[in-house]
Amino acid sequence: MSDTPIRLAVVGTGYVGLTTGACFAHLGHHVVCGDIDERKVEMLNNGHIPIVEEGLESIVNAARSEGRLEFVLGAETAARGADIVFLCVPTPQGDDGSADLSYIEQAAAQIAPVLRSGAVVVNKSTVPVGSTLAVERVLQRDDVFVVSNPEFLREGTAVHDFLHPDRVVIGSADRDAAERVAELYGSIDTPIHITDPASAETIKYAANGFLAMKISFVNAVAAMCEAVGADVAAVVEGIGSDKRIGMQFLRPGPGWGGSCFPKDSRALVKIAEDHGYNFTMMRGVIDVNDEQLERMVSKIAAAARRPDHDLSGITVGGLGLTFKAGTDDLRESPALAIIEELRRLGASVQAYDPTATGELTPHQQQVLDGIHLLDDPLEVASGADVIAVFTEWPEFAKIELAAFAARSRPGVSIVDTRNLFDPHLVREAGFEYDGVGRR
Ligand code: UDX
Repeated sequence: MSDTPIRLAVVGTGYVGLTTGACFAHLGHHVVCGDIDERKVEMLNNGHIPIVEEGLESIVNAARSEGRLEFVLGAETAARGADIVFLCVPTPQGDDGSADLSYIEQAAAQIAPVLRSGAVVVNKSTVPVGSTLAVERVLQRDDVFVVSNPEFLREGTAVHDFLHPDRVVIGSADRDAAERVAELYGSIDTPIHITDPASAETIKYAANGFLAMKISFVNAVAAMCEAVGADVAAVVEGIGSDKRIGMQFLRPGPGWGGSCFPKDSRALVKIAEDHGYNFTMMRGVIDVNDEQLERMVSKIAAAARRPDHDLSGITVGGLGLTFKAGTDDLRESPALAIIEELRRLGASVQAYDPTATGELTPHQQQVLDGIHLLDDPLEVASGADVIAVFTEWPEFAKIELAAFAARSRPGVSIVDTRNLFDPHLVREAGFEYDGVGRR
């Protein structure tokens, strides 16, 4: 091996690209990150991180000050002269449920002319099975290798997940190219699975599909617990202690959301269908998730004493808007889907989220339009007919219930879609309480 440091490029500085670039730089590599958004590049070069992601700011700024991390405008500028180029651009859902590859194809077309001979292009974006070949076709470079290296990063803990992975998966038709990518992770103590590209791409979808299935399963079990008078927490503890099942991803809630599970589960069904397999189990997982949102709306309607779902004149106070705690991401947030339905049924909604205060980004402004945003969680109770916990922000669990009750109308219900509160304490404070699968 030569002593010349490996030069990495990362195309796209969303939460995956930025985390990937920053973590590789943290591990000692030299990384140039390119993005088409001029404002974002400028922000990053001024040391500002555009997303809420624990630990990211400090590793970005440390690597920048040590000269190992740069941000530039455009994919070509980043990829010129690089040994390994990571494609971390979005793959949004297309109209028919399939993944839209246009960003990946655009990025590949832009870097094709500037790639040095022998370079490796790595697909990190979640792409349909067969996309490694699709990128090869766009690149039209026989002297460049394309490898799949899916990410398993959770928003909010992405830096931790990158540096402490359960495994790294690399899919390549060329063993040497796979090993060059594997070497980048050399200082991390983790198993590395080298497979063919189609298997690596399938691993990513199957992992997200399986996790979504666990959550849909526990949400269905929670519904059953309500019907038979069981307690879902006791059931989860009882089944999760079986090592074959495990405790993780069995937290009942309002349904799964975010930038990955909804689009990846639909894409998995579509990919299977395109290849002649009807993935009925995955369809069921998605249906249970849609039903879960409806069940939460029914709980809120029942708490408002409007079982007919006519919510005109009702004010719902919402705690949390993001799709989960620890992120400012509102994409496919169950909170927003439930709120949209409540508003369609005639309710007014006032809500607080720790990441949606002060100046809103244009995206936030657009999706939060019509919701009365508050800057104090306690104010959620003022004038509300029902209070709903939508996101499991730890600070909500610390709300002083007496102060909350002092602002509330008497006998108001708290519908806790995250089972965040202790039902006894909530009832003691004078509220009615309904959680998910709890008595
Ligand atoms: C997910 C995958 O975990 C990650 O590996 C992948 O690369 C990207 O997609 P993320 O979308 O950040 O990560 O969130 P995750 O923590 O997995 O949660 C997804 C959704 O499931 C959220 O809406 C969350 O609230 C919900 N969830 C999660 C539950 O309702 N119950 C659980 O037990 C776990």
